[in-house]
Amino acid sequence: MLLTKYELQMPGMVFAGENALDRIPEVLKGAKRTAVYADKGIVSAGLLEPVSMRLEKAGRDYRIFDNLATEPSYRQVQESVGEFRASGCDFIIAVGGGSVMDAAKLTSILATDEYDVKDLLNNPGIGYKQIATLMVPTTAGTGAEATPNAIVAVPEKEIKVGIVNRQMMPDYVVLDGEMVRRLPRNIAAATGIDALCHAIECWTGNKSNPFSDVFAIQALDMILSSIEKACDDQEAIHEKRMMQIASFYAGVAIAASGTTAVHALSYPLGGKYHIAHGISNAIMLMPVMRFNEEACRERLVQAYDRCVHAERECTADAEKSRYMIDWMERIVKHLDIPSDLSGFGVSRNDLDGLVKGAMEQQRLLVNNMRRVTPEDARSIYLSVL
Ligand SMILES: NC(=O)c1ccc[n+]([C@@H]2O[C@H](COP(=O)([O-])OP(=O)(O)OC[C@H]3O[C@@H](n4cnc5c(N)ncnc54)[C@H](O)[C@@H]3O)[C@@H](O)[C@H]2O)c1
Ligand SMILES: [Zn+2]
Repeated sequence: MLLTKYELQMPGMVFAGENALDRIPEVLKGAKRTAVYADKGIVSAGLLEPVSMRLEKAGRDYRIFDNLATEPSYRQVQESVGEFRASGCDFIIAVGGGSVMDAAKLTSILATDEYDVKDLLNNPGIGYKQIATLMVPTTAGTGAEATPNAIVAVPEKEIKVGIVNRQMMPDYVVLDGEMVRRLPRNIAAATGIDALCHAIECWTGNKSNPFSDVFAIQALDMILSSIEKACDDQEAIHEKRMMQIASFYAGVAIAASGTTAVHALSYPLGGKYHIAHGISNAIMLMPVMRFNEEACRERLVQAYDRCVHAERECTADAEKSRYMIDWMERIVKHLDIPSDLSGFGVSRNDLDGLVKGAMEQQRLLVNNMRRVTPEDARSIYLSVL
């Protein structure tokens, strides 16, 4: 069932391709002082220099905030906001993965002290854009550069919460292949599977529509054909760039539709056990896709017809949809990502809490083509214990 009303919101301007970073100074023309957001991993990977060097060259005043937390809690974001408020900056460049980009997006609607992140948890709609943002993603990736969402952990509830507000849509995006060229294999794999989940969830979700479909299926096609080489081969520049563009497309698809039960069941794993977002999605992907297979068959068949470029052996619909699911499973295995929860300290005693956390993600569960009951969630978790 396709939505009968739909809309598309995208970043104001996207610069991509060779030396796309060179375009940064021209969008800073009106800014007095620029905040550059990053985390320690970005600094040690040497990814701040390509940006700061360009700011220096253009004679721009800037200040670096390089101690942002990975997968931050709302309190950690509030601390960064406090530092930003005291800094006199009036523009934000985020250089990093989803964690850094989300902190920057939240700051952009929190620059005055009218309300705090905690208020946005209860009432995301009160935020309005105060500071322009430019995203330089370094993972491929969350697609956070193309969404109006920011995800924060809420430790007291042991969950992660998505704050959604259209005012957080980034103003500028720079997709420069240099930023993902030396992405370590394990990070490339986990964040690449996150993008795969975005694409397949948007493609098979209740909120899929003509706008999200264009981006979701194109992203899926590109990811399925490039993810393994992009992760395995340091020199696979073409595939790495494909992943960078595809994860952006998958983000656009999220903005136009939304993710489904994979993400809904994944969030409690991040909230309580601090399993990285891409890894928890990878663990939930297969059991949820199997659970969804019949309900999503038509979409999986279409995905097969679009994404399988080698000789096509499947003819029956059931074969085609099974092929798509098996293909994703092979990829997860190939990338050496855990496919179950052993090793993360999760036991049967934790099931009630996980199910409760998952059922709180109704924002996402309503998108799932097959209804997920608490009993369903329990048996899905049990299958990966
Ligand atoms: N806003 C959205 O639409 C959206 C969508 C999906 C996920 N998310 C959120 O994004 C966060 C995860 O983001 P992520 O998966 O991009 O990872 P991340 O930003 O948490 O980064 C993971 C690690 O990789 C390092 N890193 C990043 N790029 C690197 C590079 N090029 N080279 C070397 N190290 C690098 C970082 O320093 C960090 O240590 C989660 O909080 C998740 O919930 C947001
Ligand atoms: Zn995700």
